[in-house]
Amino acid sequence: MSKYLVTSALPYANGPIHFGHIAGAYLPADIFTRFLRQKGEDVIYICGTDEYGVAITINAEKAGVPYKDYVDANHKLIKEFFDKLNIRFDHFSRTTIPEHAALAQEFFLALHKKGHIKPAVEAQFYCVTCGRFLADRYVSGTCPKCGADNVRGDECTKCGEWLDPSKIVKPACKVCGSKPEIRQTTQYFLDLNAFAPRLKEWLESKSDWKANVKNKALSLIEEGLVQRAITRDISWGVPVPLEEAKGKVLYVWFDAPIGYISATAEWARLAGKPEAWKDWWFDKETKLVHFIGKDNIIFHTIVWPAMLLGQDKPYIIPDNVPGNEFYNLEGRQFSKSDGWYIDTADFFSKYGVDALRYAIASNGPETSDSQFTWEDFQGRNNELADTLGNLVNRCFSFMKKNFEGKIPAAGELMPEDKALLDSFAPVFDEVGKSYYSYRVRQALTQTMALAITANKYVNDTAPWKLRKTDLVRCGTVLNVAARAIINAAILLYPVIPDTALKVLAKAGLAQDGKAPEFKPYTGLLDNVALGADDTLLFAKIMDDQIKLEVEKLKASAKPD
Ligand code: MF3
Ligand code: ZN
Repeated sequence: MSKYLVTSALPYANGPIHFGHIAGAYLPADIFTRFLRQKGEDVIYICGTDEYGVAITINAEKAGVPYKDYVDANHKLIKEFFDKLNIRFDHFSRTTIPEHAALAQEFFLALHKKGHIKPAVEAQFYCVTCGRFLADRYVSGTCPKCGADNVRGDECTKCGEWLDPSKIVKPACKVCGSKPEIRQTTQYFLDLNAFAPRLKEWLESKSDWKANVKNKALSLIEEGLVQRAITRDISWGVPVPLEEAKGKVLYVWFDAPIGYISATAEWARLAGKPEAWKDWWFDKETKLVHFIGKDNIIFHTIVWPAMLLGQDKPYIIPDNVPGNEFYNLEGRQFSKSDGWYIDTADFFSKYGVDALRYAIASNGPETSDSQFTWEDFQGRNNELADTLGNLVNRCFSFMKKNFEGKIPAAGELMPEDKALLDSFAPVFDEVGKSYYSYRVRQALTQTMALAITANKYVNDTAPWKLRKTDLVRCGTVLNVAARAIINAAILLYPVIPDTALKVLAKAGLAQDGKAPEFKPYTGLLDNVALGADDTLLFAKIMDDQIKLEVEKLKASAKPD
């Protein structure tokens, strides 16, 4: 058995999150941890909201709301969304808890003491009207690289270039619109280069990482690591713990990953064992796994490991960083402000959570960008209805009608029965390997192949005909089919947990909400009483319904 500490990128408490985020960093981690629990591994799954940074202060100011109120509201919204989607953290924290600031300051001081953090004077825009330095997105202007207008100070939204805000052409203060002047200010820089050899060696030793993540990280080291300013002149954030740096706060990307640790510490404290977080973070046996989207690769493979290596305490560094590509909506990025989004309340009033989880997981952006389209969603929902839903429904309702609500005992087994029964163990091997190696799409293809085979078995053996000619054979076939159904449900549990538990309860094997063990079910089921629940698992979605959804999306869209 291994010990896993699994995290998902801390979402900014800056408005609702969407299916694109879910596909990148949350659903894959939830699937992974559910699978690990099925395997009996020791696992905790930690997350929380990332609550500092200029992206947040700008929006709070725009909304005319105090920063804390703004992040409180968004923290709540995001947490509810995860609950709705059945993303089950052991703890969902936030970076505004007091123990977070204390730990972030400790991290800073350890690096500072060793000389890895040094001050330097930097030219920065200063707005005389507003009386402040314009950090990151507080300044907008023309991109010095591609010439696009009205881009943000920290990143060009057109060409994707990371910008030095002072290099922006025709700068303007985002708040008051006036032209800022250049002033000198002292910031603190993290010297990543000092860690380059150790990071390189560590990355090269990772043979099981996704190629996109590993290659990106190694090429960043190859290009040469630049010093990054890790402080800002704003009022919202963790104060820089130095007398001479009064009024400055830590850059959000410095404090945020420390949130993984402070959230674990809060989890431990709330569980009444305040020191227990060290059993995870200081234990060399812990496999630390960070699920992220590809835009976060540099922070999780370079900056964060360097921060951990630079501590005096025996922190572990990541075992793996499964980074996913982007997940779009009908050919464009999800964007509420562009009117290109799905109203989630409306969505869940019509469609099931598990249908969505399945649709995203079976088409996830594991190795290249992918997207939600209504047509694809319909197809995958209906695929579940046709294979799993149909199999479960016809077998169990037939048993209810003809076998007094019990799974009939199996008589002598025929070769076709044995072939199906013998296929379970190898499928569990394959699917288990896929889940362990973050290949959820492959795990689902392998699992659905079993469901398809089981459907075919029922079609071919035709128990509804056997009922009149050979009742014992009829019972045997249904018994074997029930075993296939149960095994498919166990295999699908990480992706569609509610449905899987429902299927097991229907089969008379209620789990009390617990994850079923990930191994072939070999019980004989003779005369096991079926559960009372007769509801259908999935409703098919019709073409005209999908047409309406697409029309609605197009109607709400602002021009590209
Ligand atoms: N809030 C960042 C984002 O949404 C991710 C932070 S991940 C962490 O892109 F590691 F810094 F926590
Ligand atoms: Zn201004």
